[in-house]
Amino acid sequence: MNKMKGIILAGGTATRLFPLTATTSKQLLPVYNRQMIFYPLNVLIKAGIKDILMIVSPEHSGQFLNLLGRIFERHDVRLEFKVQSVPRGLADAFILGENFIDNDNVTMILGDNIFEDDFSRIIRNFRSGGQIFAKKVPDPERYGVVKFDESGKAVQIVEKPQEWISDYAIPGLYIYDNRVCRAARNAQRSERGEIEITTLHNYYLEKGVLQVSTFEGEWLDAGTFDTLLEAGRIVKEKEIYKNFDPQIEKAIEEFNAELKTIAKKQLL
Ligand code: G1P
Repeated sequence: MNKMKGIILAGGTATRLFPLTATTSKQLLPVYNRQMIFYPLNVLIKAGIKDILMIVSPEHSGQFLNLLGRIFERHDVRLEFKVQSVPRGLADAFILGENFIDNDNVTMILGDNIFEDDFSRIIRNFRSGGQIFAKKVPDPERYGVVKFDESGKAVQIVEKPQEWISDYAIPGLYIYDNRVCRAARNAQRSERGEIEITTLHNYYLEKGVLQVSTFEGEWLDAGTFDTLLEAGRIVKEKEIYKNFDPQIEKAIEEFNAELKTIAKKQLL
């Protein structure tokens, strides 16, 4: 049986969050009481994924390493880092991560996506093809969008449709089998010069092996001042911060204790 590997895409310059992102990466900004990156990391670790590739931008790679490298050093989670010098679209993660994925399946999550639902069961039960998700939103033109037929089968997927096709947006959590690397390598660039993730969804849709599951819980992306603030508020209000895997909680507690010891020593 193929193993499941994880990728977190946490690159990009996040210009919409300047000046906050002049000093750190978007995914290291706080969402209530944790750095944003812990939320996507939690989705993967909760699902039992032990090998995780973090794709980060060159200027922030050291900060990610300092935080996460130290935190998971003692735990049974292997984190690898890969620098993405030029953001070339989400699907580029499967080209950068090809050696890391090797012959296994892969779950990719965007570093600024926060979910209320627990997707562990679906990730653990995945065997082959593609599995993506869909949620009803008021502004589908901002996202990759999926249209269902009357029987609930996905029939069309379009990136940021200019003409309305459906209210169902596709969030940044994607599960694919090993064919994804080749599909990404063969994908045509879009008009915005990127390798679009929707091209990969369509690759699996055309083969009849794409599963699209709808969900009701919160889906937050924290890419603007307002959505960042909103994400923190909802995480607190709905107690999403209580959904962390015990392994992450323990790792953070140990890290905090270590920081306190260092702080104390410096005061002496
Ligand atoms: C990207 C994807 C889009 C997806 C969205 C989720 O859009 O291209 O399909 O729905 O993430 O956040 P971007 O944020 O790059 O515009």
